[in-house]
Amino acid sequence: MMKVPFLDLKAQYISMKEEIHAAIQQVLDKTAFAGGPFVAQFEKEFAAFCGCREGIGVGSGTEALWLCLLALGIGPGDEVITVPNSFVATAEAISFCGATPVFVDVDPRTYTLDPNKLEDYLKKRSQESETGNQQPATSNVFSARVPRSAFRIRAVIPVHLFGQPADMDPILDIARKYNLGVIEDACQAHGAEYKGEKAGSLGDAGCFSFYPGKNLGAYGEAGAVVTHNSELAGKMRMLRDHGQSKKYHHDVIGWNNRMDGIQGAILSAKLKHLSAWNESRRRNSQLYSELLKGADSIIVPGEAAYARHIYHVYALRVQNRDKVMNSLGERGISCGIHYPVPIHLTDAYKFLGLGRGSFPVAEQCADEFLSLPMFPELTPEQVEYVATEIKRLI
Ligand SMILES: Cc1ncc(COP(=O)(O)O)c(C=O)c1O
Repeated sequence: MMKVPFLDLKAQYISMKEEIHAAIQQVLDKTAFAGGPFVAQFEKEFAAFCGCREGIGVGSGTEALWLCLLALGIGPGDEVITVPNSFVATAEAISFCGATPVFVDVDPRTYTLDPNKLEDYLKKRSQESETGNQQPATSNVFSARVPRSAFRIRAVIPVHLFGQPADMDPILDIARKYNLGVIEDACQAHGAEYKGEKAGSLGDAGCFSFYPGKNLGAYGEAGAVVTHNSELAGKMRMLRDHGQSKKYHHDVIGWNNRMDGIQGAILSAKLKHLSAWNESRRRNSQLYSELLKGADSIIVPGEAAYARHIYHVYALRVQNRDKVMNSLGERGISCGIHYPVPIHLTDAYKFLGLGRGSFPVAEQCADEFLSLPMFPELTPEQVEYVATEIKRLI
C-alpha cells in the first residue's frame, strides 16, 4: 500500500531549506520583526507578480478581505454579495464590518459566482428598493465610496474557488451598472489567470491568504491585498497600523493587522518558485483527469476557456462521497472536503433564515465534493495510485 498525504509541507521545506534559513536569518540579523523592510520588499514583489501597483501585507486572508471592505467604506446597514460555497472567512469579513452577506449561487461547471444569477438578483433587488427611503452614507471608519441609497448592496466578492477565476468580465460589467465595489477573494488563486490577467488584478482589489497550505504559503499566518488604486491602498495601510499615517498620529480608528517580518522574507523566497509549483499542480491535475476519464459517475474539475486554473484544490464530484473518502483512507490516501457545509447552512449564519434549497448548486457541491491529494511535489506514481484506487471503488 502506498501512502499519499493530502498535502506535504515538509517536502517543499526540504527542497528549499537553505533559502528558507537564509531568509529567516536576514530578519533575525536586522531584528525587523513586525512589518518593516522585508514585508515592504515582499509587497513590492507580490504586487508586481499580480500586475498591480500596490501591495499591502497583513496578518491573514481574512484580514485582507476585512480591511478592504472597510477601506471601501462598507459598514452597518450595508449588504455585500458573495457565494455560499466558499471558506466561511469570505462571509465573516463582511459581518465584521457590521454589514450583511447576501448570497448568489454558483455556476455548476466552474463553481464560481454565476454572472446570470448575479444580474437577476440585482435586478430584483433594485426593483424592490425603488420605493424605499434614501439614507445618507455612514460608515464606521471611512465615509462611503459608493453613494448609499435604499438599495443597500454596495459590493460583490467573487471567490476564485480552488484556483479557478470567476468569470470577471460580466461580473465587472454588472458591478459597474449597479455601482458596486468588486473585491476578488483570490485566497486560493495565487498566479491564476483570467484572459491572461492575474487573479486579484481585475477588480477594485484582490485579497490573498498565505496560510501554510496555500499555493504560496507562509510559515505561519499572513495575507495581502493587491490593487491599482493608491488611495484605497493608503487607507488599508492606515487601517492595518492603528489608523496612523505617521507614528502616533491616529487619523482613523484602525487595528493591528501587520504582517510579520519573518513571513515577508519567507514569502519573498518562495515567490520565486510559485510559477513552477503552479505548473506542477497543473500537470498533476491533468494526469488525474486523464486517468479518471472512463469513470462515468465522477465529475472531474474543468478549466474554463477564459482561465488558467492553478489547482489549489483538485475537487472531484462523486456520489456517496463519504464512503469513497473512508475507503481511500483505508488504502493510505488522505482526502479533504472543501467545504462540507455551505455558508448559509452553517450554525453561524442560520440567522439569515436561508434554508436548504436556497442555493441548489452550492448545496449539491457540498454533498459531492471530494478533494484529492494535491501539492507540487506529488509524484506521477502517487497520482496513478490514487486514480486506480478511485476507479476500483466506484
Ligand atoms: C476562499 C478563502 N477566503 C478566505 C480565506 C481566509 O484566509 P486566512 O485563512 O489566511 O485568514 C481562505 C483561507 O482558507 C480561503 O480559502
